[in-house]
Amino acid sequence: MKIGNLSLQKNTSLKSYHTFGCEVSSKFFLELNTIEKIEECAKHFDEIPKPIYFLGGGANSLFINDFPGTVIHIFNKGIELIEENDKEVLIRVQAGEDWDEFVKFCVENEYYGLENLTAIPGQVGTAPIQNIGAYGVEAKDCIDEVYYTDLTDGESYVLENSDCNFGYRDSIFKNEMQDQFIITEVVFRLSKNGKLKLDYGTIKQELSNQAIIQPTIAQLSDTIRKIRASKLPDPKEVGNGGSFFKNPIVSMSQFEELKKQYPEIVAYQNGDKMKIAAGWMIDYLNWKGREHNGAAVHTQQALVLINKNNATGKDIVELSQMIQEDIQKHFGINLETEVQFC
Ligand code: EPU
Repeated sequence: MKIGNLSLQKNTSLKSYHTFGCEVSSKFFLELNTIEKIEECAKHFDEIPKPIYFLGGGANSLFINDFPGTVIHIFNKGIELIEENDKEVLIRVQAGEDWDEFVKFCVENEYYGLENLTAIPGQVGTAPIQNIGAYGVEAKDCIDEVYYTDLTDGESYVLENSDCNFGYRDSIFKNEMQDQFIITEVVFRLSKNGKLKLDYGTIKQELSNQAIIQPTIAQLSDTIRKIRASKLPDPKEVGNGGSFFKNPIVSMSQFEELKKQYPEIVAYQNGDKMKIAAGWMIDYLNWKGREHNGAAVHTQQALVLINKNNATGKDIVELSQMIQEDIQKHFGINLETEVQFC
């Protein structure tokens, strides 16, 4: 089907377009590999069959059924150094670039800031939406500007970092602007003589196991790649979407009550609140390795649900609901999903 200059495919399998790898298809499918095509799509937005789902790397999307409308896959590519001085660089990256390839580019060029976000699946354009984070760093720490096309008027705009309302796995794009935009490019501000962040969790331990005291950016990136590989399944081998749930944030008084009942509970200070390790709670209730039809809880990291054996999206959702109920029953906490259902 033709809409303007765009060609929509019919009945396209989404298996290879999302990291859970469930066998689902989309009634219509549209690939946008240039900013011009993204703008064309915005101009003709009213004519595209609804509902619409925008797909980047598909690293955080779980399709529960065949999609009845149009899946729009964004994959415009390009990395461009736009400003440089002794201290820092500004790099403009198109939304469809692979996140980890971009991090590799930064590490190779010794541009500091994103090395702790090594080996996260997904695309650059979706990183600001949920403000991806790992090992003490969030994408927002290095994002300078986000360029997007507005679907309500077809025009292109830019948001400064401070206007993106970034929070823990959160931003304006998930709230006020939901469903109204396509991110086209992200500009990152990276340091040339930056300090490495080594404080989170097992980083120091893993470095000292390798007898590294003052790591280079490449050594830190390699170490994080190893830590992640030991806990998180490679989506090319086993379907998954990284952390399935967000770590819940509770008041200090609620945390004190929980601590009385569960003295070993793992939590981190988050402003005047506490962020609880959902993986610890799920593990504590012995969910690791448990299966529901083809879906399972990962044996190395309880926060991750996997497509173990031809699971449907429904199997994975049902397993997640059983976990949510159990967490509610024992800890009185509502676990929110990080993965998006579509
Ligand atoms: N834990 C357990 N059992 C488990 C899992 C975790 O006891 O099965 C405990 C760990 O021992 C640790 C604590 O829980 O003390 C936290 O675990 P971990 O460091 O693995 O991190 P996480 O809180 O489970 C978060 C992010 C990950 C990110 C890591 C590292 C969220 C929802 N998840 O996981 O992000 O890689 O920290 O920074 O914030 C993702 O978003 O997809 C993702 C993988």
